[in-house]
Amino acid sequence: MAALQNIKLITGNANPQLAEKIARYLEVDLVSCQVGRFNDGEVQVKMEESVRGGHAFVLQPTSPPVNDNLMELLIIIDALRRASVNQITAVLPYFGYARQDRKTQPRDPVSAKLVANLITASGADRVVSIDLHAPQIQGFFDLPFDNLLAEPIFVDYFRQKSLEDVVVVAPDVGAVKEARRFAAKLKVPMAIIDKRRPEPNRAEVMNIIGQVKGKNVIIRDDIIDTGGTLTEGAAHLKEAGCERVIGCCTHPILSGPARERLSSGVFDEIVFSDTIPLDWDDPKVKILSVDKLLGEAIDRISKNISVSALFY
Ligand code: R5P
Repeated sequence: MAALQNIKLITGNANPQLAEKIARYLEVDLVSCQVGRFNDGEVQVKMEESVRGGHAFVLQPTSPPVNDNLMELLIIIDALRRASVNQITAVLPYFGYARQDRKTQPRDPVSAKLVANLITASGADRVVSIDLHAPQIQGFFDLPFDNLLAEPIFVDYFRQKSLEDVVVVAPDVGAVKEARRFAAKLKVPMAIIDKRRPEPNRAEVMNIIGQVKGKNVIIRDDIIDTGGTLTEGAAHLKEAGCERVIGCCTHPILSGPARERLSSGVFDEIVFSDTIPLDWDDPKVKILSVDKLLGEAIDRISKNISVSALFY
């Protein structure tokens, strides 16, 4: 692919590995930019080359440490705007705070809207993300927002595996729409886990709706945080007589007990994307890169070409 001079690809500290892969795909160098800390912990950004007149793409998932990564994103955007860049696209492969997208209790904040306001106020002209937890967050921005799907990457992977007797399982009712679309692409049936959350970060399985006995099941979720939802669901699927249980998740947050839970032996395989960096060397863990998806989106956006072909 011909390198475009006007792309200025910049990364904070959240996922530089992914930024480097995207830079290779685009055949551009990453902008030399130091993102460090002052003695007191404040974020320090030093742009070491001119970005004047370019189209800046700031790659920074707001994954843990969420607040640090968010502040880095905002301050990098501020630095770019003041350095006379022409356009700024914030690329958040994982959009943190997305699970606080509405008031569920009196006096709750709507943190996703606040984060949208902060990104807009910092000077972004456009936002790109992947598998937003709540797609309506796009509407929290009065800016163009491309919410890309990791689904084709996972679909290709499972098609190549040629598994038989597959059922796609939604780990809760919130995941039904995505699981249905995933099952349709793989041309397999689906089942649903009826999950309750008695308190934040605690998942309880009530029922499994659908035929799973003797099947190879793929539990498809957007996020694994503490691993409770997926592990509880997998354990119940095994009890219900499933053959193989495969977890498939876009954003591996993996906080607290997640690794321990996911390693408990209930999974035959777990497939993640690299929207969030993950250092986990285990034959049962497969990491698929979103580098080409994001690289292609950045290329198309920089050339004003439609990105809708990426949503096949
Ligand atoms: C919930 O709506 C999400 O799709 C995930 O199922 C949830 O965030 C996963 O959290 P945990 O791994 O802590 O159960």
